[in-house]
Amino acid sequence: MLEKREHWGNRFGFILAAAGSAVGLGNIWKFPYITGENGGAAFVIIYLLCIFIVGVPVLIAEVLLGRYSQLGPVTTFRRYARKHKTFWVAAGGLFFLTGLIILSYYNVVAGWSAGYVVESISGHIAAFTSSGDAAVHFQALISSPWWILSFQFVFVLAGGLVVYFGVKNGIEKIARLLMPVFFIILVLLVIWGISLEGSAAGLRFLWEPDWSTVSFNTVLTALGHAFFTLSVGMGVLLTYGSYLKKDDNVFFSGIMIALLDTLIALLAGLAIFTSVFAMGFDPAEGPGLVFNVLPAVFANMPGGSIFSLLFFSLLSIAALTSTISILEMLVSTLLDESNLSRHRVVIGTSAMIFILGIPSALSFGKWSHLQLFGRSIFDVMDYLSANILLPLGGLLVAVFVGWYMQKREVHDELLRGFGDSYGKRRVTAVWFDLVKYAAPVLIFLVFLSAIGVLK
Ligand code: PHE
Repeated sequence: MLEKREHWGNRFGFILAAAGSAVGLGNIWKFPYITGENGGAAFVIIYLLCIFIVGVPVLIAEVLLGRYSQLGPVTTFRRYARKHKTFWVAAGGLFFLTGLIILSYYNVVAGWSAGYVVESISGHIAAFTSSGDAAVHFQALISSPWWILSFQFVFVLAGGLVVYFGVKNGIEKIARLLMPVFFIILVLLVIWGISLEGSAAGLRFLWEPDWSTVSFNTVLTALGHAFFTLSVGMGVLLTYGSYLKKDDNVFFSGIMIALLDTLIALLAGLAIFTSVFAMGFDPAEGPGLVFNVLPAVFANMPGGSIFSLLFFSLLSIAALTSTISILEMLVSTLLDESNLSRHRVVIGTSAMIFILGIPSALSFGKWSHLQLFGRSIFDVMDYLSANILLPLGGLLVAVFVGWYMQKREVHDELLRGFGDSYGKRRVTAVWFDLVKYAAPVLIFLVFLSAIGVLK
């Protein structure tokens, strides 16, 4: 669509929207439970290394590519791949596919969190006496097609509505409104968690590494999660970057987004593990951690229903600002590749996402017998997209920026809007080497280890 491209109101709007994309279920639902399953602090350390050695450089590369092209993913590659064009257009298609897969199952968990806001208000959560009660209740809810599909629908609708209004009036406005609310709620929950008697065991779990649980698979999980939590590797940040004006500083914005995301994951971990340990529950509960265990934690303490309402509102806000970003990537891809209007594309894509999410939604109840490689449909979607497609997407971004664009072009684009910071050439040179050499090699090694070539 050859309309003039929309831009963010200002750089701060972009940082908030991109941080809104990065901060999501990945930080509050997934990070705590995979940390719980992978032994706590040792996993956190590997995860931080993956974020700062691989995740941040590739994040900056992805935003840079979008700002450079001012186009959605597929069209970026179509226009700017000088060699192997077909391959790169297919790579853009892979981003689109990854987005479809992630958004379809992401809306399911987002729907649970919206449902649990209602559960908190209705007083169901306050009635639990043990985590067994909470787990039984959760299981009953997620295996009821009506419950799950209606909340999933509400979520798809909400995301669609925001994206319908466009970049500045929809996405940026919502991010400016919700991100501060999000942060205040999170800080309240952390203070509350730390103030509980017995919270020290939770702190120790997060800070004292136990290396005996670390395997190659741990590293793969940490790397996959680094991409997932930063929203890197499927063109979402490329799309958000394409709405940046040329005088914004891509490098510092990228670092800000990653720091905010990491800070929030650690704070969410703090809030959750302090309360889980204080009440003597199991941290290695898996995907059900925040739905099976936390409600019981809340039910057993004074003021618990208020904190439960706050917590699930936090989760819903986080999920909404992330679903919006994935939907925007899909929409922008289709807009740039067709003559359709934004409104039509948003409606069509949202409908498709809802339908695609139905099998994942039902895989906790009616369709739980449908298994692939011993995993449910939901788990297959999650594993395939987070552990395989996203690192692969990150690899593609790194290879494109590091090897297919001209080095001078990349440096010019990066330094535009950089200002006169001292030592900027040295910093950008290190960044370029990380993107060109370190990121591809590390991602490749982790892939080899995952398929069992390196043991
Ligand atoms: N970063 C989001 C989270 O942590 C998920 C996400 C992945 C969003 C990829 C956009 C793209 O929940």
